[in-house]
Amino acid sequence: TLVRTGDLIGEARAAGRAVLAFNVITVEHAEAVAAGAEAAGAPAVLQVSENAVKFHGGRPGPLAAATAAVARAAAVPLALHLDHVESEELLRSAAVHGFGSVMFDASRLPYADNVKATAEAVRWGHARGIWVEAELGRIGGKAGDAHTPGVRTDPAEAAAYVTDTGVDALAVAVGSTHAMTERTATLDHTLIAALRTAVPVPLVLHGSSGVPDEELRRAVQSGITKINVGTALNRAYSAAVRAYLETHPTVVDPRKYLAPARRAMAETVTAYLRATC
Ligand code: G3H
Ligand code: ZN
Repeated sequence: TLVRTGDLIGEARAAGRAVLAFNVITVEHAEAVAAGAEAAGAPAVLQVSENAVKFHGGRPGPLAAATAAVARAAAVPLALHLDHVESEELLRSAAVHGFGSVMFDASRLPYADNVKATAEAVRWGHARGIWVEAELGRIGGKAGDAHTPGVRTDPAEAAAYVTDTGVDALAVAVGSTHAMTERTATLDHTLIAALRTAVPVPLVLHGSSGVPDEELRRAVQSGITKINVGTALNRAYSAAVRAYLETHPTVVDPRKYLAPARRAMAETVTAYLRATC
Protein backbone atom coordinates (compact mmCIF):
# COMPACT_ATOMS: atom_id res chain seq x y z
CA THR A 1 0.00 0.00 0.00
CA LEU A 2 1.08 3.55 -0.70
CA VAL A 3 1.50 5.51 2.53
CA ARG A 4 3.09 8.82 3.47
CA THR A 5 6.70 9.13 4.60
CA GLY A 6 5.73 11.39 7.52
CA ASP A 7 3.39 8.70 8.88
CA LEU A 8 6.02 5.93 8.58
CA ILE A 9 8.66 8.10 10.26
CA GLY A 10 6.28 9.18 13.03
CA GLU A 11 5.35 5.58 13.87
CA ALA A 12 8.98 4.43 13.79
CA ARG A 13 10.15 7.28 16.01
CA ALA A 14 7.45 6.57 18.57
CA ALA A 15 8.57 2.93 18.65
CA GLY A 16 12.31 3.73 18.76
CA ARG A 17 12.83 2.13 15.36
CA ALA A 18 14.08 3.42 12.02
CA VAL A 19 12.64 3.42 8.51
CA LEU A 20 14.85 2.41 5.61
CA ALA A 21 14.68 4.44 2.41
CA PHE A 22 15.97 2.93 -0.81
CA ASN A 23 16.88 4.85 -3.98
CA VAL A 24 14.98 3.92 -7.14
CA ILE A 25 16.55 4.44 -10.57
CA THR A 26 14.57 1.96 -12.68
CA VAL A 27 11.25 0.15 -12.32
CA GLU A 28 13.25 -2.97 -11.36
CA HIS A 29 14.63 -1.08 -8.34
CA ALA A 30 11.08 -0.27 -7.18
CA GLU A 31 9.93 -3.86 -7.72
CA ALA A 32 12.98 -5.13 -5.82
CA VAL A 33 12.33 -2.84 -2.85
CA ALA A 34 8.70 -3.99 -2.73
CA ALA A 35 9.68 -7.68 -2.93
CA GLY A 36 12.49 -7.26 -0.41
CA ALA A 37 10.27 -5.38 2.04
CA GLU A 38 7.51 -7.96 1.67
CA ALA A 39 10.00 -10.74 2.44
CA ALA A 40 11.10 -8.88 5.58
CA GLY A 41 7.53 -7.92 6.50
CA ALA A 42 8.65 -4.32 6.98
CA PRO A 43 7.63 -0.93 5.55
CA ALA A 44 10.09 1.17 3.52
CA VAL A 45 10.48 4.38 1.57
CA LEU A 46 10.97 4.37 -2.20
CA GLN A 47 12.99 7.46 -3.06
CA VAL A 48 13.72 9.01 -6.44
CA SER A 49 16.62 11.46 -6.51
CA GLU A 50 17.03 14.52 -8.69
CA ASN A 51 19.94 12.69 -10.33
CA ALA A 52 17.62 9.79 -11.21
CA VAL A 53 15.13 12.27 -12.66
CA LYS A 54 17.96 13.78 -14.74
CA PHE A 55 18.79 10.27 -16.00
CA HIS A 56 15.18 9.98 -17.17
CA GLY A 57 15.49 13.13 -19.29
CA GLY A 58 14.48 15.52 -16.51
CA ARG A 59 10.91 14.17 -16.42
CA PRO A 60 9.91 12.76 -13.02
CA GLY A 61 6.47 11.62 -14.21
CA PRO A 62 6.95 8.16 -15.70
CA LEU A 63 9.25 6.73 -12.97
CA ALA A 64 7.20 8.36 -10.19
CA ALA A 65 3.97 6.90 -11.61
CA ALA A 66 5.49 3.43 -11.96
CA THR A 67 7.02 3.56 -8.49
CA ALA A 68 3.74 4.70 -6.93
CA ALA A 69 1.94 1.87 -8.73
CA VAL A 70 4.44 -0.65 -7.35
CA ALA A 71 3.87 0.76 -3.85
CA ARG A 72 0.07 0.57 -4.20
CA ALA A 73 0.29 -3.09 -5.22
CA ALA A 74 2.65 -4.08 -2.40
CA ALA A 75 1.61 -6.11 0.65
CA VAL A 76 3.57 -3.81 2.99
CA PRO A 77 3.37 0.00 3.48
CA LEU A 78 5.66 1.87 1.06
CA ALA A 79 6.07 5.65 0.79
CA LEU A 80 7.18 7.78 -2.17
CA HIS A 81 9.92 10.38 -1.53
CA LEU A 82 11.78 12.82 -3.79
CA ASP A 83 15.45 12.81 -2.76
CA HIS A 84 18.29 15.40 -2.91
CA VAL A 85 16.30 18.07 -4.75
CA GLU A 86 18.28 21.19 -5.60
CA SER A 87 16.05 22.45 -8.43
CA GLU A 88 13.16 24.70 -7.38
CA GLU A 89 11.28 23.59 -10.48
CA LEU A 90 11.56 19.91 -9.56
CA LEU A 91 10.55 20.71 -5.97
CA ARG A 92 7.41 22.43 -7.21
CA SER A 93 6.48 19.42 -9.32
CA ALA A 94 6.61 17.04 -6.32
CA ALA A 95 2.94 17.17 -5.37
CA VAL A 96 1.76 16.72 -8.97
CA HIS A 97 3.80 13.52 -9.27
CA GLY A 98 2.48 12.01 -6.03
CA PHE A 99 5.51 12.46 -3.76
CA GLY A 100 4.37 12.76 -0.13
CA SER A 101 7.79 13.97 0.97
CA VAL A 102 10.87 15.73 -0.35
CA MET A 103 14.48 16.10 0.71
CA PHE A 104 15.39 19.65 -0.25
CA ASP A 105 19.17 19.81 -0.49
CA ALA A 106 20.64 23.29 -0.06
CA SER A 107 23.67 21.88 1.76
CA ARG A 108 26.04 23.25 -0.90
CA LEU A 109 25.01 26.80 0.05
CA PRO A 110 26.54 28.88 2.85
CA TYR A 111 24.59 28.56 6.13
CA ALA A 112 22.43 31.70 5.82
CA ASP A 113 21.49 30.92 2.19
CA ASN A 114 20.75 27.28 3.10
CA VAL A 115 18.37 28.49 5.86
CA LYS A 116 16.62 30.96 3.54
CA ALA A 117 16.15 28.52 0.64
CA THR A 118 15.09 25.66 2.92
CA ALA A 119 12.60 27.78 4.91
CA GLU A 120 10.98 28.74 1.61
CA ALA A 121 10.86 25.09 0.48
CA VAL A 122 9.27 24.12 3.81
CA ARG A 123 6.64 26.88 3.53
CA TRP A 124 5.85 25.69 0.02
CA GLY A 125 5.74 22.01 1.05
CA HIS A 126 3.66 22.45 4.19
CA ALA A 127 1.03 24.41 2.28
CA ARG A 128 0.60 21.22 0.21
CA GLY A 129 0.87 18.64 2.96
CA ILE A 130 4.39 17.61 1.94
CA TRP A 131 6.88 16.45 4.59
CA VAL A 132 10.25 18.13 4.08
CA GLU A 133 13.71 16.84 4.98
CA ALA A 134 16.83 19.02 4.66
CA GLU A 135 20.56 18.69 5.20
CA LEU A 136 22.98 20.56 7.41
CA GLY A 137 26.69 19.78 7.28
CA ARG A 138 27.68 18.80 3.81
CA ILE A 139 27.67 14.98 3.47
CA GLY A 140 30.19 14.17 0.73
CA GLY A 141 30.31 11.71 -2.14
CA LYS A 142 27.30 13.10 -4.06
CA ALA A 143 27.50 12.82 -7.85
CA GLY A 144 31.28 12.61 -7.97
CA ASP A 145 31.97 14.98 -5.05
CA ALA A 146 34.89 14.07 -2.80
CA HIS A 147 34.20 11.72 0.12
CA THR A 148 34.06 13.65 3.39
CA PRO A 149 33.68 11.16 6.25
CA GLY A 150 35.26 13.78 8.57
CA VAL A 151 32.55 16.44 8.14
CA ARG A 152 30.31 16.90 11.21
CA THR A 153 27.00 18.66 11.90
CA ASP A 154 27.18 20.95 14.94
CA PRO A 155 24.33 20.28 17.44
CA ALA A 156 23.76 23.95 18.39
CA GLU A 157 23.73 25.01 14.74
CA ALA A 158 21.40 22.09 13.93
CA ALA A 159 18.93 23.20 16.63
CA ALA A 160 18.90 26.77 15.28
CA TYR A 161 18.58 25.46 11.71
CA VAL A 162 15.51 23.36 12.54
CA THR A 163 13.86 26.29 14.36
CA ASP A 164 14.64 28.75 11.55
CA THR A 165 13.57 26.48 8.67
CA GLY A 166 10.71 24.46 10.17
CA VAL A 167 11.93 21.21 8.55
CA ASP A 168 10.29 17.90 9.44
CA ALA A 169 13.54 15.90 9.50
CA LEU A 170 17.24 16.65 9.41
CA ALA A 171 19.99 14.86 7.45
CA VAL A 172 23.19 15.05 9.47
CA ALA A 173 26.91 14.54 8.82
CA VAL A 174 28.06 12.01 11.44
CA GLY A 175 30.70 9.93 9.64
CA SER A 176 28.98 8.51 6.57
CA THR A 177 29.60 9.62 3.00
CA HIS A 178 27.69 8.83 -0.20
CA ALA A 179 28.45 6.15 -2.79
CA MET A 180 30.79 3.92 -0.78
CA THR A 181 31.16 0.45 -2.28
CA GLU A 182 32.61 -1.12 0.89
CA ARG A 183 30.93 -1.08 4.31
CA THR A 184 33.83 0.37 6.26
CA ALA A 185 32.42 3.65 7.66
CA THR A 186 32.36 4.27 11.40
CA LEU A 187 29.82 6.68 12.87
CA ASP A 188 30.15 9.27 15.62
CA HIS A 189 27.56 7.84 18.02
CA THR A 190 28.26 10.44 20.71
CA LEU A 191 27.45 13.14 18.18
CA ILE A 192 24.27 11.34 17.03
CA ALA A 193 23.09 11.23 20.67
CA ALA A 194 23.94 14.93 21.12
CA LEU A 195 22.05 15.83 17.94
CA ARG A 196 19.09 13.71 19.05
CA THR A 197 18.94 15.72 22.29
CA ALA A 198 19.46 19.11 20.62
CA VAL A 199 17.12 18.65 17.65
CA PRO A 200 13.36 18.11 18.03
CA VAL A 201 12.83 16.41 14.62
CA PRO A 202 13.86 12.92 13.35
CA LEU A 203 17.47 12.55 12.18
CA VAL A 204 18.38 11.05 8.80
CA LEU A 205 21.52 9.09 7.91
CA HIS A 206 22.63 9.40 4.28
CA GLY A 207 25.27 7.29 2.58
CA SER A 208 24.29 4.18 4.53
CA SER A 209 25.64 1.78 1.89
CA GLY A 210 29.09 2.27 3.43
CA VAL A 211 27.94 1.63 7.00
CA PRO A 212 28.15 -1.89 8.54
CA ASP A 213 24.97 -3.43 10.05
CA GLU A 214 26.25 -3.17 13.63
CA GLU A 215 26.98 0.55 13.16
CA LEU A 216 23.49 1.06 11.71
CA ARG A 217 21.88 -0.71 14.69
CA ARG A 218 23.87 1.47 17.11
CA ALA A 219 22.90 4.57 15.09
CA VAL A 220 19.22 3.73 15.53
CA GLN A 221 19.77 3.35 19.29
CA SER A 222 21.62 6.69 19.34
CA GLY A 223 18.76 8.46 17.56
CA ILE A 224 18.71 7.98 13.77
CA THR A 225 15.15 7.48 12.40
CA LYS A 226 15.61 7.37 8.60
CA ILE A 227 18.38 5.38 6.92
CA ASN A 228 19.06 6.06 3.23
CA VAL A 229 20.51 3.28 1.09
CA GLY A 230 21.30 3.64 -2.61
CA THR A 231 24.68 2.34 -3.77
CA ALA A 232 24.27 -1.07 -2.08
CA LEU A 233 21.37 -1.85 -4.43
CA ASN A 234 23.34 -0.75 -7.48
CA ARG A 235 26.29 -2.83 -6.40
CA ALA A 236 24.08 -5.93 -6.18
CA TYR A 237 22.39 -5.06 -9.49
CA SER A 238 25.65 -4.56 -11.41
CA ALA A 239 27.37 -7.61 -9.96
CA ALA A 240 24.41 -9.79 -11.00
CA VAL A 241 24.32 -8.36 -14.54
CA ARG A 242 28.09 -8.71 -14.90
CA ALA A 243 28.02 -12.33 -13.71
CA TYR A 244 25.16 -13.22 -16.03
CA LEU A 245 26.70 -11.60 -19.11
CA GLU A 246 30.08 -13.18 -18.45
CA THR A 247 28.56 -16.67 -18.48
CA HIS A 248 26.05 -15.85 -21.27
CA PRO A 249 28.02 -13.74 -23.76
CA THR A 250 25.47 -14.06 -26.58
CA VAL A 251 22.28 -13.21 -24.61
CA VAL A 252 20.15 -10.38 -26.02
CA ASP A 253 16.92 -10.47 -23.99
CA PRO A 254 17.43 -8.00 -21.11
CA ARG A 255 14.92 -9.91 -18.96
CA LYS A 256 17.49 -12.71 -18.71
CA TYR A 257 19.94 -10.52 -16.76
CA LEU A 258 17.49 -8.03 -15.23
CA ALA A 259 15.72 -10.85 -13.38
CA PRO A 260 18.83 -11.87 -11.38
CA ALA A 261 19.70 -8.19 -10.93
CA ARG A 262 16.27 -7.49 -9.47
CA ARG A 263 16.53 -10.58 -7.25
CA ALA A 264 19.95 -9.48 -5.97
CA MET A 265 18.56 -6.03 -5.10
CA ALA A 266 15.56 -7.55 -3.32
CA GLU A 267 17.87 -9.75 -1.23
CA THR A 268 19.93 -6.67 -0.32
CA VAL A 269 16.77 -4.82 0.74
CA THR A 270 15.64 -7.74 2.92
CA ALA A 271 19.09 -8.00 4.53
CA TYR A 272 19.17 -4.27 5.39
CA LEU A 273 15.64 -4.40 6.79
CA ARG A 274 16.28 -7.52 8.88
CA ALA A 275 19.52 -6.05 10.25
CA THR A 276 18.10 -2.70 11.30
CA CYS A 277 14.31 -2.74 11.79
O1 G3H B 1 20.00 9.89 -0.36
C1 G3H B 1 20.49 8.78 -0.68
C2 G3H B 1 21.40 8.07 0.20
O2 G3H B 1 22.10 8.95 0.99
C3 G3H B 1 22.15 6.96 -0.47
O3 G3H B 1 23.54 6.90 -0.18
O4 G3H B 1 24.16 5.52 -2.14
O5 G3H B 1 25.77 5.93 -0.33
O6 G3H B 1 23.80 4.46 0.08
P1 G3H B 1 24.36 5.61 -0.67
ZN1 ZN C 1 21.85 11.09 0.34
